[in-house]
Amino acid sequence: EGLARFQNYPIVDFTIAEERAAYPEAIARLRSSLGKKIPLYINGKDVETSDMLDSYNPANPEEVIGSVCQAGVGEVDDAVEAASKAYLTWRDVSPAERAEVLLKAAQYLKDNIHDLCAVQILEVGKQWEQAQADIGEAIDFMEYYAREMIRLGKPRRMGHAPGEMSHLFYQGKGVAAVIAPWNFPLAISVGMVSAAIVSGCPVVYKPAGISSCVGHGLVKMWKAAGLPDGVFNYCPGRGAVVGDHLVDHPDVAVIAFTGSMEVGLRIQERAAKVQPGQQQCKKVIAEMGGKNATIIDDDADLDEAVLGVLYSAFGFQGQKCSACSRVIVLDAIYDRFVERLTEAAKSVKLGPAENPANYMGPVVDRAAQENVLRYVKIAEEEGQLLVKLEASADLRATGGCYVPLTIVEKIAKDHRIAQEEVFGPILAVMRAGDMDEALDIANSTRFALTGAIYTRSPAHLERAANEFRVGNLYLNKPSVGAMVERHAFGGFKMSGVGSKSGGPDYLLQFLDPRLVCENT
Ligand code: SER
Repeated sequence: EGLARFQNYPIVDFTIAEERAAYPEAIARLRSSLGKKIPLYINGKDVETSDMLDSYNPANPEEVIGSVCQAGVGEVDDAVEAASKAYLTWRDVSPAERAEVLLKAAQYLKDNIHDLCAVQILEVGKQWEQAQADIGEAIDFMEYYAREMIRLGKPRRMGHAPGEMSHLFYQGKGVAAVIAPWNFPLAISVGMVSAAIVSGCPVVYKPAGISSCVGHGLVKMWKAAGLPDGVFNYCPGRGAVVGDHLVDHPDVAVIAFTGSMEVGLRIQERAAKVQPGQQQCKKVIAEMGGKNATIIDDDADLDEAVLGVLYSAFGFQGQKCSACSRVIVLDAIYDRFVERLTEAAKSVKLGPAENPANYMGPVVDRAAQENVLRYVKIAEEEGQLLVKLEASADLRATGGCYVPLTIVEKIAKDHRIAQEEVFGPILAVMRAGDMDEALDIANSTRFALTGAIYTRSPAHLERAANEFRVGNLYLNKPSVGAMVERHAFGGFKMSGVGSKSGGPDYLLQFLDPRLVCENT
């Protein structure tokens, strides 16, 4: 109570010399202690296992960031059991007290922001400012959900019938399994985990294998915030070994997932099946993929449009569910836009993310590299190559997971490169005769996550707002970089089920409403 209104954490300011100096210093500090064994954390205790997975720097796969213990089904069972026990007390801790823990956790992130950035710069290849934005978003999620829980925590008087007093209030659903992605390794993890925890749902958290060192930051964070044992359990493990087991577990009440459509659909299917001993219907929240388009109208401000498309297509190597992977250009401006985009793309510098001169780094690991290279071939076969900007021979000799920045034109609606999510720096350019056709192309995939349009026409802005049917539409700005609250985030169709993260309905998904009516 008495909290100031929610505000987003400020974006990084590199005009400040200390801010610029802080990144290399933090990276050097991390380098002096790399490669440690990282245990699981179950019921307030570190737990070691014999199965280990090395997490490496995608710019230099010889550099191991951490050796991460992998949970087997036994450890997952222990974690669910610890969370189930913790639920019995945590659900009755007052919303204000639960919110207080999130605010302390947010403070821990603020106090350690550069060291936390360094882990993701080396572990997943985030550029400095994108790493800082990721930690900033994690802070925002907790500051916002803390306030949201305080708002929802007040019992609501229902009706005014004489002779009765009726109240509606909320209770956490039970144990939440959180299955997180590697691309916003702290923000999306903290978002899903803190939403569950503040709602009264203890968590079994499975980070992505390739960002498990970033994920381990949550252990330190919740310890610093004084969260009771068992409410947060860190359980990295191989998807093939523990993924289904966690989803199928009869004592899991909520599954919060962010990742690919294939895995999200599998989770929904499995979660619908009632297991022996299961006492509740499982709730699934799944944020899945995107095949996001940006429309360039014939009167667009090309200075803005070129930079916006470049950033949303190739920032963090295109590895965002919000990334622009299709740019739909109106006929009348096609040649001018494409020429400028091509020139701008050719000026992009490729190299390790730890050097801020590089706009684009390696993709996250060898498997991602192979996948993107496969799609580069498909793009070349289906369309006509405009740009294929390769890493230099020197860079490739380092063994880093580089892929070429690729732009192809002459792509039509039914091409694979216009329909399938790549999760890499490949952009398809598509030509439209008029705004009707542009909107038709934009809406022509199974996904409905983000979109953008650059236009000076008020009528076209209004048409887009109505007819460009995606979860998050941006007018004259890039389709990436959603801010908590201001751009509550999430899509529909095959892009996901559940309401928007960082928005006013998000916590309700972790809560069961109860009503108590007294005859007075
Ligand atoms: N929230 C991110 C963005 O908007 C995607 O997950 O870029």
